[in-house]
Amino acid sequence: MSELGSLEDLPLDYRQELTDLSLVPLWPSLRAVLPYGRPSAQTTPTLWRYADIRPNLLRAGELTPIEKAERRVLVLANPGLRLETLRATATIYIGMQLILPGETAPNHRHTPCAVRFVIEGSGGYTVVEGEKLPMEKGDLILTPSGLWHEHGHDGDGPVVWLDALDLPLIYAIENSYAVEAPLQQFDDDPDASQTRYCRAGLVPYASLDAPRARYPLLRYPWREVRDGLRSLAQATPADAPVQLAYVNPETGAECLHTLGFSALMLRPGESLTLPRRSSSMVMHGVEGGGQAVVDGVEMRWEETDTFAVPTHAEVSLANASTSKPAFLFVVDDAPLQRRLGFHEVYHGSKF
Ligand SMILES: [Fe+2]
Repeated sequence: MSELGSLEDLPLDYRQELTDLSLVPLWPSLRAVLPYGRPSAQTTPTLWRYADIRPNLLRAGELTPIEKAERRVLVLANPGLRLETLRATATIYIGMQLILPGETAPNHRHTPCAVRFVIEGSGGYTVVEGEKLPMEKGDLILTPSGLWHEHGHDGDGPVVWLDALDLPLIYAIENSYAVEAPLQQFDDDPDASQTRYCRAGLVPYASLDAPRARYPLLRYPWREVRDGLRSLAQATPADAPVQLAYVNPETGAECLHTLGFSALMLRPGESLTLPRRSSSMVMHGVEGGGQAVVDGVEMRWEETDTFAVPTHAEVSLANASTSKPAFLFVVDDAPLQRRLGFHEVYHGSKF
């Protein structure tokens, strides 16, 4: 690989001429934008502790009335990516959202895809296209691109959930926007998608003769995921990860086109090295705690803590408990990369 010419090699008058004409020579930047062997990443392995976030989120509830915030969210911004760009990784936005009793978030839809993962509190709900979805701790709720949705809270005490969006991607392609509308009328069939699709391998018969639904299942209850992981652990070799993907039950494909969701169980005392992947990830502790080593950076996570994993990172996880399993919820951008044609998984090999 030969050394390429730098900007400084060029005479000043030539550089100025190019600048005046809105032109840029490629060769001084070529190795930066298309490096050999491995991409460069600004995303840094970063841990956000819920114990640090929660008091500041509750303080936001005191400092800013909901009308002035519309969405009372603290964004987990990766220090490697300039905080103001609101990115946990290059493609993944993560926010922690607080809703207090009686508050609602207006009905709207937008081009980015979003999901909620409930961290604490009960009585929160999301309405998606007229379907009222209850939100209990650990539940995953989809609000895909273009679908009307609004949030509310019928219970007592604060409700906090994690928002994950493909906002950085949609913003980068200059297509991020939202529209609002009056609150929705509820269907008389709340949580209908969960009622229809709550058993793996079973779908409503009528769906076989209907066009594939884009988003047939909108809520994935944690209790189903947790039970599924415990069953899967019994049928998984001791050295393989116990991990379940959230999918569209009609197609078996990822439930959204850009972001993927999965849940990982660490068996009691388990230490695990994940296969290295080209996708970036955000991991969120659901139960238990342990150690994560990401590209050599050691992080100790507990329940409801969240950490960012750059693309192509080396990731090792260890369960701190020798008597109880630990559970992580994982967001990645693998669906986007599969659609772009290059998602890579390395089993023990390096570039
Ligand atoms: Fe939204």
